[in-house]
Amino acid sequence: MATTETIEILDVTVIEPRLKHPTIFEWFDKLQGGDAFIIHNDHDPKPLYYQLLGERGNVFKWDYLEQGPEIWHVQITKLTPAAGETVGELVAKDFRKAQVFKKFGIDFCCGGKKSVAQVCEEKGINQTALEQELKSLPETTAGRDENFDSWELGFLADYIVNVHHKYVREALPALYEYTTKIARVHGNRHPELLEIAKHFVNVANELEAHMPKEERVLFPYIKQLDEAKKNGQSIDRPAFGSIQNPINMMEMEHEAAGDELEAIRELSQNFTLPADACATYQVAFAKLQEFESDLHRHIHLENNILFPKALELEKEVLK
Ligand SMILES: [Fe+2]
Ligand SMILES: [Fe+2]
Repeated sequence: MATTETIEILDVTVIEPRLKHPTIFEWFDKLQGGDAFIIHNDHDPKPLYYQLLGERGNVFKWDYLEQGPEIWHVQITKLTPAAGETVGELVAKDFRKAQVFKKFGIDFCCGGKKSVAQVCEEKGINQTALEQELKSLPETTAGRDENFDSWELGFLADYIVNVHHKYVREALPALYEYTTKIARVHGNRHPELLEIAKHFVNVANELEAHMPKEERVLFPYIKQLDEAKKNGQSIDRPAFGSIQNPINMMEMEHEAAGDELEAIRELSQNFTLPADACATYQVAFAKLQEFESDLHRHIHLENNILFPKALELEKEVLK
């Protein structure tokens, strides 16, 4: 475990395969908030990242200290719960703040569980400059149709499906066509387009598997909780134990989808069009950007509003 002097290293290469992940989880569970350990491995332990996210939630920081080709060192730090309001909570109250966080390169949807001070420290951002910009937003209450934080949860779940899931399903076929076409036509001169097309297929596949899980399992349960509360009833414990389990899983999948879009943004150098870009190239990049902003808003509504409120609601109405 981490001591005041050094951070302990867990050499995963010498652990019996079936014990690797349980040992890492054991080390992680023993950490106090703010403490860390380093895993030493002979391949990229990224799958472990998603497993940890799925089973423990967004409660740790993952930093590559060494990234191959022969050894990988990753520092895993258990986060201390954010003191004060988190980035996600600030955006939940006033969606206009999302624009400011975006400008400073701060992830307000998947990475929204950190306080402003925490993200500024992590990313080397001038906190005073950021706070000034947040304060300079005109003093108006968020418009009625933007005030998601005040919506009933069942209504919010329906809104997400009717607006965002519908958008994703409509956008995917066209985007698939554009990204494949520009990769085929311009891939010789712009090889990054081949990579972009692959990342797009990954995110499309992930979302096509992800949304039905929300629509068939998680959201109906949230609506059931909402109904029970309204009728003053209590309900039986669900088959998945607690809503925390599917929520961790959904948040892990959000993170994976967000990572694919981040890769697309980097490969395209923030969607910068080359001088020889044809009309399809322009449409593809514009549509990819639109898709990214829609997904950020979609994930924000789930991670920062729907899920935390559903967790609280479950505590109230479970037998
Ligand atoms: Fe969703
Ligand atoms: Fe989702």
